Amino acid sequence: MQEAQMSTVPALPDTAALSALDTTRVSAKRRDFLRMLGYGAGAAALGPMLMACGSSNSATAAETLRLQLAADENFWTGVQNLFTLNPAKTFMNIGTAGSMPKLTLDLFDTENRKKAAESGNGYSNLLDLRTAVAPSFGVGADELAFSANTSSGMCHALLGLDWKAGDVVVTTNHEHGGGLTPLNIAKDRYGIEISYIPMPVGNNQTAATYQNLFDERIRALKAQGKRVRAMMWSSPTYKTGTMLPIAELMQVVKTHELISIVDGAHLPGMMAYDYGALGMDFMSGAGHKWQCGPGSTGILIIRNKIRASNPLPLPKWFPVHTSSYSTRERTTTGTETFDIAASVTACGSVHTPMFQALVNACAKWDEIGRKKIETYDLTLSAYLKEKIVERWGIDSLYSPKDDPKLCSALTSFNPFRNKADVKDTTKSGQFVTRLQNEYPQGFIIRNSGFEVIGETAQHYAMRVSTHLWHDANDIDLLVDAMWDLSGKMA
Ligand SMILES: Cc1ncc(COP(=O)(O)O)c(C=O)c1O
Repeated sequence: MQEAQMSTVPALPDTAALSALDTTRVSAKRRDFLRMLGYGAGAAALGPMLMACGSSNSATAAETLRLQLAADENFWTGVQNLFTLNPAKTFMNIGTAGSMPKLTLDLFDTENRKKAAESGNGYSNLLDLRTAVAPSFGVGADELAFSANTSSGMCHALLGLDWKAGDVVVTTNHEHGGGLTPLNIAKDRYGIEISYIPMPVGNNQTAATYQNLFDERIRALKAQGKRVRAMMWSSPTYKTGTMLPIAELMQVVKTHELISIVDGAHLPGMMAYDYGALGMDFMSGAGHKWQCGPGSTGILIIRNKIRASNPLPLPKWFPVHTSSYSTRERTTTGTETFDIAASVTACGSVHTPMFQALVNACAKWDEIGRKKIETYDLTLSAYLKEKIVERWGIDSLYSPKDDPKLCSALTSFNPFRNKADVKDTTKSGQFVTRLQNEYPQGFIIRNSGFEVIGETAQHYAMRVSTHLWHDANDIDLLVDAMWDLSGKMA
């Protein structure tokens, strides 16, 4: 069974065995991980720390996963020396761009050379490659398409639907242009209406908060006689890293019989989600961010059969950028009528080595274990959040911390001693630049501007991505540098 489809967590490892680990013989990364687990005032701090964040539904499961990871020899040897990153910098903006593992680069190079040597073409729907990766995402090959990136997947999804004038799409005010652009095209072209829900920020939310916000907005629109047709949202949002909870939002989708479109730019390679079990109509993710495939690669999941997770009929959808078109009606049962993902993947001649390299990176993630990678990334983020709270206070966090369902490996916060400085876009940009230029580790993070409820000016927060090539030491150094810089900029 694929790790992504695991629903149960094996028994907790023996903590005595963990403490007996010979830490002099394990990697520095693993020692740092153990240190993160013990962070704070000893055992009293361990509980909440371990409970914070994770995609599983119970704190005990998150705690179990972290302790299992600490004891997992294969994980720690598997992640050593995977990447070829410039050691003069510390790359903490995976939310914008990942980095291909060495093995993937080698495969890409070999396949490029083979293609050139044989004057190869790319007239293919890449069924063999899609078949290889689809199980890792909990779907069939007919439901996993290769797109050019997240934005391309959002265009495929949104511009292929049979919109009618007056259809309402409910979304958030924290969406990315990758989804908003095709949404606005649909507005101007087909006369759809867009209803934006203002997003709360910080640690005071639970998954139920977002479920209620969507449900209440949809009920209010319906009461006004509006025809709500779809929900579109980002999980997580790129602005605050809030993991809008897909399972809870899918409940709203099903209650109101809506089309569901998820901007999941950051999901592949970060979260070990099973998309068949989640049941959204579309999930557009990047191949080039957390999944560490080549640029110009994306994964678009398209629901193409009826499962218990989403019994709603499949929405009418037309491919818009394709060399493969079937006029057949889509299925009303659990068996697909045709390979709809082929119609996204196949459009003229594609650059096959790019997708071979993406599949190679996916295979590496499967080998390491997607759930382990998720656990590692979220533990780093949880540790970073704890340290931010310690220095800057809980109110500085835009990302949630305490509801595991809302956590991602993107951490967003206000670094300024004078809190109002976060509204100064110039100062925020300077913080990013100075953090890279004035500290020996060359920290690369980004900032992002967004609306905050009750405020007229946007906030330009710092956003930090934590992934496989980081360890607790990187977080410690980053927090020290950011604290120092915030002092200088006060
Ligand atoms: C939420 C979100 N959606 C879409 C995108 C666009 O991603 P891509 O470059 O894969 O199109 C990004 C990029 O950062 C993002 O964060």
